[in-house]
Amino acid sequence: MLDMNKIKKDFPILRVKINGKRLVYLDNAATSQKPKQVIQKLVEYYECFNANIHRSIHTLGEMATEEFEKARKEVAKFINAKEEEIIFVKNCTEGLNLAAYTLAREIKSGNIVTSIMEHHSNFVPWQQLCIRKRMEFRVADINEDFTLNYEDLYSKINKRTRVIALTHVSNILGSINDIGKVAKEGGDAYFVVDAAQSAPHLKINVKKLDVDFLAFSAHKMFGPTGVGVLYVRKDVAERLNPFLYGGEMIKEVYITKTKWNKLPYKYEAGTPNIADVVAFGEAIRYLRRVGMNKVRAHDKKISKLALRELKNIRGLKLYGPTKVKDRIAIFSFNIKGIHSHDVAHILDSEGIAVRSGHGCAMPLMRRLGVNSVARASFYIYNDEKDLEALIKGIEKVKRVFKVD
Ligand SMILES: Cc1ncc(COP(=O)(O)O)c(C=O)c1O
Repeated sequence: MLDMNKIKKDFPILRVKINGKRLVYLDNAATSQKPKQVIQKLVEYYECFNANIHRSIHTLGEMATEEFEKARKEVAKFINAKEEEIIFVKNCTEGLNLAAYTLAREIKSGNIVTSIMEHHSNFVPWQQLCIRKRMEFRVADINEDFTLNYEDLYSKINKRTRVIALTHVSNILGSINDIGKVAKEGGDAYFVVDAAQSAPHLKINVKKLDVDFLAFSAHKMFGPTGVGVLYVRKDVAERLNPFLYGGEMIKEVYITKTKWNKLPYKYEAGTPNIADVVAFGEAIRYLRRVGMNKVRAHDKKISKLALRELKNIRGLKLYGPTKVKDRIAIFSFNIKGIHSHDVAHILDSEGIAVRSGHGCAMPLMRRLGVNSVARASFYIYNDEKDLEALIKGIEKVKRVFKVD
């Protein structure tokens, strides 16, 4: 069990009043709030050891480098990777694009397989690659219960499949995909996983999952904005050529040729976002102290309660699996006759922050037959009281719009 009092005290923003009401922050799938330990680390970086990394031999430069590389170690341990397999990028989107551009140099024909539940950032890069190379873009469907249709997915994978690009957890449905199983069925294709929604909630072991690329963002897991991770399996990272050129990623430069730096620096051109990477290291330490098992147990507890409550609201349509084991605590819904922006607006007047709109998943919206959804997404500082506030808020929305 999580020590909720202690956790809530770690997040200063939870004391902020919104429209005179207690903040009920349920937009964690968009970005999480930050604990004071992470905020303090950012301040400490700028006050005590701000310098560029990997180049200056002065003490401050070495301190900054040490802290930056400490964060890489933390991330590597967090997903059971080697340090040289961790590439720091701007966000999950940049990580997925880096994978797509890097692979684009090696792939010439065939097909790329993805799913209809992808966020645009794991859909558009592959779609565009297929358009540029005249390759086939294959999109696997979902089942009626909002889980991935594995049968359809496997029927789309064949000898000509070059890349399988799949999300670990859907940012709209909350569905968890069995990445390990897909990896086994994937044959020789490169397997790229979008872990933006899973890394904050589930224990990830890249070796067990056996994936080639895996991307996620720091800001959805207590870290600052502006930092993401692209894991690339060592043999793949060694074989492929870098996408961005410039400082740091070279070993030697001649007029006619350049030799690449060793991993992971080969893929990290230019001065990185040092302060935020260092603070991300603190965010990972925070998650490790809490324990990913406890994070998941809390998520399951909230999911069970939320599913029970939401089911009882007349006119509410939930888009996501009804079995706790198949999902995380992301609840997308619509209320009959009310636009999702109106739902979000009225909830906001009660201090409740939820997302509304297409959720960066337009192909999925079309598949669901809607233009938009309202989405409430929970994290470890959300408790039963927050769920209760959401349910009362939804009842108010219905009263305001006179929907029974
Ligand atoms: C499943 C999924 N993939 C990718 C992203 C993109 O993350 P970012 O905007 O941090 O790059 C998101 C963000 O919401 C997401 O939910």
